[in-house]
Amino acid sequence: MLIDTHCHLDFKDFNDDLGAVLKRSVASGVKFIINVGSSLEGTARSVKIARENAFIYASIGIHPHEADKVSEGDFRIFEGFLKKPKVVAIGEIGLDYYRNISSMENQKRLFARLLEIAKGAKLPLVIHNRDSHEDMIDILKNIMGNSLSGVMHCFSGDEKFLKTCLDMGFFISFTCNITYKNAGKLREIVKLVPMDRLLLETDAPYLAPQDFRGARNEPMHVKYAAEEVAKIKGIDFNEVAAVTAENAIRLFNLPKC
Ligand code: NI
Repeated sequence: MLIDTHCHLDFKDFNDDLGAVLKRSVASGVKFIINVGSSLEGTARSVKIARENAFIYASIGIHPHEADKVSEGDFRIFEGFLKKPKVVAIGEIGLDYYRNISSMENQKRLFARLLEIAKGAKLPLVIHNRDSHEDMIDILKNIMGNSLSGVMHCFSGDEKFLKTCLDMGFFISFTCNITYKNAGKLREIVKLVPMDRLLLETDAPYLAPQDFRGARNEPMHVKYAAEEVAKIKGIDFNEVAAVTAENAIRLFNLPKC
């Protein structure tokens, strides 16, 4: 049993064949999917996809790339999604200083505001972090204090940042990018993550595994991330699948199976 804890089936990449994609996912052993909203429109679609598919749950979020565009009224709309059925997390939210599509100041303001909402809602966080380690940790500690529950999605960072995230209570999630030929450093990080804190995701349509690079990614490919973790840690694939699924069920409060 596998759980894809982070993908974007609401993107237009899946407009033409979502049904077939979901069928393939189920056939390949994917038990649950968390579809992650990254804008207000995406969040609305995410909630709709969860409503229409029993095995899909929704996370609601506004990506840091959107930070320059967000208005006060958007937060009221956003808070309205908290009450929708099958909403299990807030994200993706965070900071992206790699692409810096929105200004750093606006990114920080948006992130802080959404964390306040998450704190009130008592939902786990799905965090996007690119090259923003220090500001990220400062803002998280400032607002969340000791009440933190969440995942560092598509982990990127060094051993020191990993230790900080683990100490704060975060789960650490890896995508199929751990299969890339040039991902040696990231595979070293995978070795250091305790199994009871590890999650798997595809981040589809992005980051297709090595054998499919350049193509659209799909939830069924989460098995490649599981296979790679099994190889890196020298344990059985089934153990990786079972433990990471248990972790996801615990973090997102999904039905036990
Ligand atoms: Ni994502």
